[in-house]
Amino acid sequence: MTLPKWLIQLIFRLLYYEMAWAYDLVAWLVSFGQWAAWRRTVVPYLRAGPLLDLAHGTGGLMADLAEMGLTPVGLDLSPYMGRIARRRLLRKRTVPRLVRGKAQHLPFRDGSFANIVMTFPAEFALERRTLMEAARVLQPQGRLVIVAMGYMRPVPVLRQLIQWAYALTTAHKVSEKDVLARIRAAGFAVHWEDAQWEGACARLLIATRDG
Ligand SMILES: C[S@@+](CC[C@H](N)C(=O)[O-])C[C@H]1O[C@@H](n2cnc3c(N)ncnc32)[C@H](O)[C@@H]1O
Repeated sequence: MTLPKWLIQLIFRLLYYEMAWAYDLVAWLVSFGQWAAWRRTVVPYLRAGPLLDLAHGTGGLMADLAEMGLTPVGLDLSPYMGRIARRRLLRKRTVPRLVRGKAQHLPFRDGSFANIVMTFPAEFALERRTLMEAARVLQPQGRLVIVAMGYMRPVPVLRQLIQWAYALTTAHKVSEKDVLARIRAAGFAVHWEDAQWEGACARLLIATRDG
């Protein structure tokens, strides 16, 4: 079962814009407190060099990365998310390197980043334009790491609940094989990986730019 597309769009529109203040609480609730830990599963896959958090949301991952001594740049379409992320980074005494923009038209020069991370991105992530832009702003052999889904390995009932909630709110289902084909078509070598980090388990896409 899936909710009607208009309702899914309305829920996400509210969560990213007018109700962005509630985003962290909702993410915490639907993940049984695991959201931030799921996001951090990207860490072991990062390479040395500049990093872009594409669609940074409320900036939680950027704050975590800053605590690890990294200096991520963030981009998000929502000015509401931008404001929340900025406040969060300033509270952590971190310079907020934030840009408002569209993943499909990145305002960065070719080869600007060694890494791009996208955690729980919406449908825009697999659009051809987004993937071509990601390939353009990455350095040759640069990494695109996408957290697609989190797991509750020790508690199967919670895992089922999360998968049910995910299915309910996903309008366009794309098979794992088709996802790989789309990313490869944009000039990446890519594979799925079940990652574990600090006790959290998530399903990631690890893509490396050709060339
Ligand atoms: C599900 S949230 C994920 C936020 C964050 N990465 C996280 O893990 O919590 C999706 C984010 O994508 C942003 N977004 C939606 N469409 C976008 C686009 N075309 N370009 C850039 N950001 C976009 C939304 O504003 C929102 O912050």
